[in-house]
Amino acid sequence: MSSLIDILDLSTAELDELVHTALDIAHDPSKYADACRGKKIATLFFEPSTRTRLSFEAAMYELGGSVLSVPSGAISSTSKGESISDTARIVSLYADIIALRHPLEGAAAVAASKSAVPVINAGDGGHFHPTQTLTDLLTIYREKGTFENLTIGLCGDLKYGRTVHSLVTAMSRYAGTRFVLISPEELRLPEQIMTEIERYHVPVETTSSLDEALPKLDVLYMTRIQRERFDDVAAYERLKDSYILTPEKMQFAKPDCRVLHPLPRVNEISTLVDDDPRAAYFRQAGNGKLIRMALILKLLCEADGKTKPVPGVPMPGKRCPNLRCVSNVEPELQGLFRESTEKDDVCRCAFCDTAVK
Ligand code: NCD
Repeated sequence: MSSLIDILDLSTAELDELVHTALDIAHDPSKYADACRGKKIATLFFEPSTRTRLSFEAAMYELGGSVLSVPSGAISSTSKGESISDTARIVSLYADIIALRHPLEGAAAVAASKSAVPVINAGDGGHFHPTQTLTDLLTIYREKGTFENLTIGLCGDLKYGRTVHSLVTAMSRYAGTRFVLISPEELRLPEQIMTEIERYHVPVETTSSLDEALPKLDVLYMTRIQRERFDDVAAYERLKDSYILTPEKMQFAKPDCRVLHPLPRVNEISTLVDDDPRAAYFRQAGNGKLIRMALILKLLCEADGKTKPVPGVPMPGKRCPNLRCVSNVEPELQGLFRESTEKDDVCRCAFCDTAVK
């Protein structure tokens, strides 16, 4: 594998292999202390980040490598109008691997199509966030001892929460997974992610009541309402406190339930829950560094100097309807689409997966 854009770029065997490498790193970090000596990661973040960026950087240092970083996308040449394609091409001349976070959906796919070194999608708008999913998977495995037969509740902003989109896509592939989707009507899971769940015939329950769902769950994945993705501030204000997990509510959760959250939290988990042994979100943030070490190792081992083309074809006259899609913003990009298939009977934008008529 040359770049990680979508969690589906990894097979289940590869996910398992990454989890096992991360566990081995946790067990004996000294074994890996020189594994990436002489290698550099570039962290290019055009949106705010604490955990993702610092865990990538800490991961590279702990592998013996070093870090190139622009402190903020706002001071890079992108602010002068440089395209994502050019930025990726240039940075790949200086670094051995790139971690990119960008507000446009499909931005990482564009970067990977121009970069001769592996690109890791560290979040592309409201689309995907595969390395958070790797973190979530490692956490689920360490906390529950298995990926199978788990009832997973996803609560909050399922529409814009990119970590939810990647996690649902990954967990759909494990036997016995069941999802309980807990959100206000307006923040339900996008159609393309529902299609992914249906493809694997995963049982799904949809509700707006956390209280009703809580007693059934093996894992509760809380999320923040994604203020920055709302066009309508009033809608954000109305929805922002839809769910608040408190110790009173936790009384109804199973004794071995685990609460995950990609963080940052705003108001959706009371700090009074933090000392509950079932609260796994700080342990989860620690796991982010281990799994990113495993991922950097794998990608550097497999790097072949080739770019990763965006998997689509031009269709004259078609345009992606998603205004946050990179193909509608970067002037030099031509629309690329995936034809409908037996498994998915709609045509989709190859950059952001939105259905296209
Ligand atoms: C998440 C993100 O950036 O999507 N944070 C993270 O990477 N840990 C979740 C969020 O911002 O709500």
